[in-house]
Amino acid sequence: MQIIKLDAIDSTNLYLKNLMSSLQARDYTVVVANTQTKGRGQMGTIWDSESGKNLTFSVLKLFKTFEVKHQFLLNIATSLAVYTTLNDMQIPDLKIKWPNDILSGNNKICGILIENILSGTKIQASVIGIGLNINQIEFNNLVNVSSLKLLTGIHYNLDEVLLNFMKNLEQLFETILTGKELELKQLYLKVLFKKDKVSTFKNDADQMFTGIIRNVNDNGKLLVEKEDEIFQEFDLKEIKLLY
Ligand code: BTN
Repeated sequence: MQIIKLDAIDSTNLYLKNLMSSLQARDYTVVVANTQTKGRGQMGTIWDSESGKNLTFSVLKLFKTFEVKHQFLLNIATSLAVYTTLNDMQIPDLKIKWPNDILSGNNKICGILIENILSGTKIQASVIGIGLNINQIEFNNLVNVSSLKLLTGIHYNLDEVLLNFMKNLEQLFETILTGKELELKQLYLKVLFKKDKVSTFKNDADQMFTGIIRNVNDNGKLLVEKEDEIFQEFDLKEIKLLY
């Protein structure tokens, strides 16, 4: 592992994607930034984070000879690595909200953006971007957002959290590489937010409906049981979990 610390950059994900094309890429290169001027979130959103207060970083994972069976396993391993790290720090009420947000109660404390670099249909490398709210205590008008410090009152050392996370991430990726992905999937489902509970969703036509999250398939689609035991699969663009 090598850690590159930057004061300011557009996005740590973009930084590593560019590094990939410059042939200097090394497995588990980590790039951490105090400030991101164009932090990227899921589905084209912006990731905002107060300078120096939180962890905003990306990890480059190279897959040379190994073909990842299902890309969604990378989401599972990464979200479980965050979950385990925070659980070890006694952060309360942790859940993973599909596909890979980390919540405490109903509040998001961490977002993950994984961008894969493909060679044909094989994943050549993944850029794993993490935004973890740690010591920031004001979030302007954002709702359902929190940080570790808001939850526990403790001021955390960012480097320590990062090193603990990296240890967990390497271990969980090892689990995928050694074919124990079913175990991971079970763990993921065990801590999945709202699993087996009646929830309200909005579909891509802005219609509300109720249903129950039952599973996530190998491609990462959410399996929801609607009325009359009808099951339907959704990808991220097609469904929003409201409450
Ligand atoms: C989300 O929308 O929940 C995903 C947010 C991911 C943010 C992180 S911050 C570090 C890395 N660099 C980026 O530009 N985005 C990710």
